[in-house]
Amino acid sequence: MSDDILAETRSLTVDFLNGPDFLRALDGVDLTIHKGEFVSLVGVSGSGKTTLLNAIGGLIVPTSGSIIFNSIRFDSMSEEERTIFRRNHIGFIFQNFNLIPSLNIFQNICFSAQLSQKPITAQQVEKIAQQLGIEDKLSRMPAELSGGQQQRAAIARAMLARPSLLLADEPTGSLDSLNGKSIMQLLRKAVSENNMSVLMATHNEEFASQTDRMIHIEDGKIIAEESRK
Ligand SMILES: Nc1ncnc2c1ncn2[C@@H]1O[C@H](COP(=O)(O)OP(=O)(O)OP(=O)(O)O)[C@@H](O)[C@H]1O
Ligand SMILES: [Mg+2]
Repeated sequence: MSDDILAETRSLTVDFLNGPDFLRALDGVDLTIHKGEFVSLVGVSGSGKTTLLNAIGGLIVPTSGSIIFNSIRFDSMSEEERTIFRRNHIGFIFQNFNLIPSLNIFQNICFSAQLSQKPITAQQVEKIAQQLGIEDKLSRMPAELSGGQQQRAAIARAMLARPSLLLADEPTGSLDSLNGKSIMQLLRKAVSENNMSVLMATHNEEFASQTDRMIHIEDGKIIAEESRK
């Protein structure tokens, strides 16, 4: 595995039980993500974007195929090893945000960094909240925020933990175009300054076209790739 490769999937297949049958959500996906690369994943609803992010992030176990992370076979780790690895190396921005309802926004933003025992300061939390325009919401509970504000809190939480790979599922999906643009700038900055890799599922063609590589997925298969670097 070459030094600049962060993660690779080989023949990744995921079947879901769908009544008496199986539904093949991913069908032999071969994908390579380089260090410091910003990759977008585009495809119609139901094409397998979220499934691919969840499989790469170890949230679902693939039916077959492999995921190799920094030369380590991720899919053959024990559940416990995988959890620890995920905490230390992978960040998620979920399609439905997944903020913890019983914690306020400040505590939510700190949560992932604390789990992976990465030191953060109140100033860092305030700075990223300010960049995302939610600095006045830090003492609020998630249910008191709009969808777009919750999404920005989820982005702050993932970014502060400084993962090697950030899996972002429609990170601009609940935002207007101005806020969407500032999220794109923030992601780009994380990629160029911290050598973070980002895999972002999106329906937004304009944002996808600003990434280093655009992957098209259809019926669980990669059907095309466009490189811009
Ligand atoms: N837990 C599950 N159980 C059964 N089927 C599932 C499950 N999760 C996803 N699927 C199915 O797998 C396929 C891919 O779903 P996925 O959520 O990955 O699509 P997506 O590309 O993220 O769509 P969207 O753009 O709407 O978010 C769909 O047909 C979906 O119904
Ligand atoms: Mg999805």
